Amino acid sequence: MEYYYFKSYKEASKKGAGIIASQVILKPNSILGLATGSTPIGTYKELIELYKNKTLNFENCKSFNLDEYVGLNHEHDQSYYYFMHDNLFNHINMKEENINVPDGMAKDVDKFCKEYDEKIDREGGVDIQLLGIGSDGHIGFNEPATSFSIGTHKETLKDITRKDNARFFKSLDEVPTHAITMGLLTIMKAKKILIMACGQGKKDIFEKALHGPVVPEVPASILQFHPHVYAIFSEEGCN
Ligand code: F6R
Repeated sequence: MEYYYFKSYKEASKKGAGIIASQVILKPNSILGLATGSTPIGTYKELIELYKNKTLNFENCKSFNLDEYVGLNHEHDQSYYYFMHDNLFNHINMKEENINVPDGMAKDVDKFCKEYDEKIDREGGVDIQLLGIGSDGHIGFNEPATSFSIGTHKETLKDITRKDNARFFKSLDEVPTHAITMGLLTIMKAKKILIMACGQGKKDIFEKALHGPVVPEVPASILQFHPHVYAIFSEEGCN
């Protein structure tokens, strides 16, 4: 595991973007695994800058997002599809047909999840997966005690996760109760992992995940068994 520590969120974001940039430069048709949330916003801003100054070209890249709320359509401003377009895709030259975000409106969720994993496999697998971490140690929406060996699936969100995310909705009641998420197995199949956390509120859980016992109660702890992880922490928070 390569561990990077920064005081400033901006510096941490630059490092995160640099790691993704080197992946894209070395393999222009990279498959990027992407995340939403507050943590990666700075990294996405840096990637947009690198695209604008012509250092990066996403024309041949494809992306698979980690997760999506069940019941939110693309137009909903809290859907992860909307978030990704607003914070990244609308500002770079990734082709819409190469963008994959789980479909929160899928009629047959189980079928959708199975096909999402199959599509990732067909594309040759994710080259680098970007992750944030929840205050309960979740990655994607894999809540504590989720099986380590599960693929993309529908997850019931814990109260703590719904409360953490309520800041983006008008009220707690509006926060969806379920999400589609890449499973820990799907995440662990990525060739490289980049996990980022920012702010004092994430310090303990980040430490516990990366250095504590590997247990399903701390889903991110499974990353200790991944052969190629970059971990970036910034003292400064991101929101
Ligand atoms: C987002 C995701 C979540 C977040 C986590 C941290 O796609 O899968 O696991 O990464 O909840 O969220 P922030 O960055 O808002 O603290």
